Amino acid sequence: MSSKINAAITGTGSSAPKRVLTNLDLEKIVDTSDEWIIERTGIKERRIVEDGIVGTDLALDASKKAMEEAKVLPEEIDMILVGTVTPDFLLPSNACILQDKLKTKNAGVMDIVAACSGFIYGLSIAQAYIQTQKYKTILVIGVEILSHVTDWTDRNTCVLFGDGAGAAIVQPTNDDKGILATFLSGDGSLANLLHIPVGGCKTPLTEKNIKESMHFIKMQGSEVFKSAVRSMGDATERVLKLGAITSDEVDLLIPHQANMRIIEATARRVKLPMEKVFVNIHKYGNTSSASVPIALDEARKSGVIKKGSKVVLVAFGAGFTWGSALIKF
Ligand code: UT7
Repeated sequence: MSSKINAAITGTGSSAPKRVLTNLDLEKIVDTSDEWIIERTGIKERRIVEDGIVGTDLALDASKKAMEEAKVLPEEIDMILVGTVTPDFLLPSNACILQDKLKTKNAGVMDIVAACSGFIYGLSIAQAYIQTQKYKTILVIGVEILSHVTDWTDRNTCVLFGDGAGAAIVQPTNDDKGILATFLSGDGSLANLLHIPVGGCKTPLTEKNIKESMHFIKMQGSEVFKSAVRSMGDATERVLKLGAITSDEVDLLIPHQANMRIIEATARRVKLPMEKVFVNIHKYGNTSSASVPIALDEARKSGVIKKGSKVVLVAFGAGFTWGSALIKF
């Protein structure tokens, strides 16, 4: 026991749509192959929502699982933080809609627009509120319905993305565990390498730009790839330094699942063997802000993370944004 208040993850949950879209299914839609997708990305299949399902439905499912594990009732939640770039509506936020679905009574609600880094940004905000003792129970979520902003005629992007949600409950503890350090960063000068060009106030939707598919994700893959490798490696090193530990002491790295080659390059850069890296990209593809919390939940539930394990979460995404968290369980 120590007198210092730490912010600990006391429950996690995740949710993926039932509908599976395999590489073989994609071969029928665009000029691609199972072999190319596996070799260049590591993805075998991804989950895609059924018609009528929205992000807050998946977020609700993931949240209930996290709350059940942490034994948290809706009225005990002080704040809901939702990382998403594919909200149900532009207004109001997913956090507001989720508040109503969960029937929380006392929670502040906000969305975080940090793309693939959204969950880690949320954890960092939660850590600050818990350590300053303003709040006692915070629900942090990453959820995306990327299938709705994917151009299903563009082989450069449509093979990459999937839908899903992951959630965590963050609460105070006096024990020697919890979120030991976080690191956040960003660089808006590179925004146009990965973006949705229209649909905001600057360029509203028109019949013409929709016909030109400008309302879908556009990415310059190889440029994003280089920045992702550099930034995820840097963010991992920075958080280890902040937590005053070396990579030898890390039990598990949970990287954003965007590309197997980015994951391997990040592991090499921080000198971690692949046995210490959690990978589930083959099942879900890139689910942006949901990627890290889904992987965290699977790593915890499968027993890969044990009591005392030191785990690094790291992500990189559109914006660009990147960030990391060092957590002791
Ligand atoms: O989550 C946020 C962060 N996102 C990322 O980190 C994604 C980063 N980027 C990537 O993961 C990779 O750049 C991709 C997987 C998107 C692309 O891999 P790449 O090795 O960088 O391929 P490339 O874009 O340089 O394209 C190589 C070739 C091209 O053909 P040519 O011009 O050499 O004839 C592409 O047209 O591969 C072609 N290609 C494909 N071929 C079959 C691109 N997509 C496909 C495809 N199937 N789906």
